[in-house]
Amino acid sequence: MLPQGTQPEGAANQQEAARQVRDMFTRIAPRYDLLNHLLSAQMDRRWRARAARELRPILQRRDALVLDLCCGTGDLAFALQRNGPARIFGADFSHTMLVRARHKALALNQAQPVTFLEADALNLPFADKSFDLITAAFGFRNLANYQHGLGEILRVLKPAATIAILEFAEPPPGFLGDAYRYYTRTILPKIGGWISGDARAYAYLPKSVARFFSPGELAAMLQQTGYTQVRYHLMTLNSVALHLAVRP
Ligand SMILES: C[S@@+](CC[C@H](N)C(=O)[O-])C[C@H]1O[C@@H](n2cnc3c(N)ncnc32)[C@H](O)[C@@H]1O
Repeated sequence: MLPQGTQPEGAANQQEAARQVRDMFTRIAPRYDLLNHLLSAQMDRRWRARAARELRPILQRRDALVLDLCCGTGDLAFALQRNGPARIFGADFSHTMLVRARHKALALNQAQPVTFLEADALNLPFADKSFDLITAAFGFRNLANYQHGLGEILRVLKPAATIAILEFAEPPPGFLGDAYRYYTRTILPKIGGWISGDARAYAYLPKSVARFFSPGELAAMLQQTGYTQVRYHLMTLNSVALHLAVRP
């Protein structure tokens, strides 16, 4: 059966799942960037840069409004900003992640800084048909209700606007896929737990990826929700997928 939404251990319902996810990211925020870069051997930067390059035709439009959902400490929002003059907003429901994003924005001193705001992806504080592009990097998998999340994004996208979801995926069986699984399930939680002081958060990561849709299933769900031109690109041993689709 396909998962309805993320389900951290012990969460009895969607409200509890969302609260646990928010508390977890709030706890690991101080070490989040360091661990991202370390545990992915800096590949996380390349995955976001690739996504931003793919979206350049929209980012190059001066009038385009872009929302990076589940923006965390802002790395995808900053990558989008580097690729054109579009106006970028970053939204997340963890206040502590946003504080770090704002500090990074100040240090970057961009001519047109990213605007960060606190918002729940399942209840967006925006009018219908507001954005030309909505992105989410490694955040969509953490939503407590995927169908609701895709519907809410569809609502606030303008007609002909684009959704882009960058997410982890399970590589297929075989030597490299199995080595990847050994790394993410055994080594990564140990290093992540040790450096962040939160072993539970870094044990959640591989479990949530294993529970999440395959790239084909996510593509089918986008189509069922009403998106068109659904396509995806796989990267790094098929362990990361970039899904793109258009609101009709
Ligand atoms: C793995 S981090 C990804 C952060 C960033 N996009 C990146 O690429 O590093 C996931 C983020 O999603 C946020 N998040 C999860 N569920 C959310 C929701 N319902 N509404 C807003 N943010 C959410 C978390 O607070 C966290 O900052």
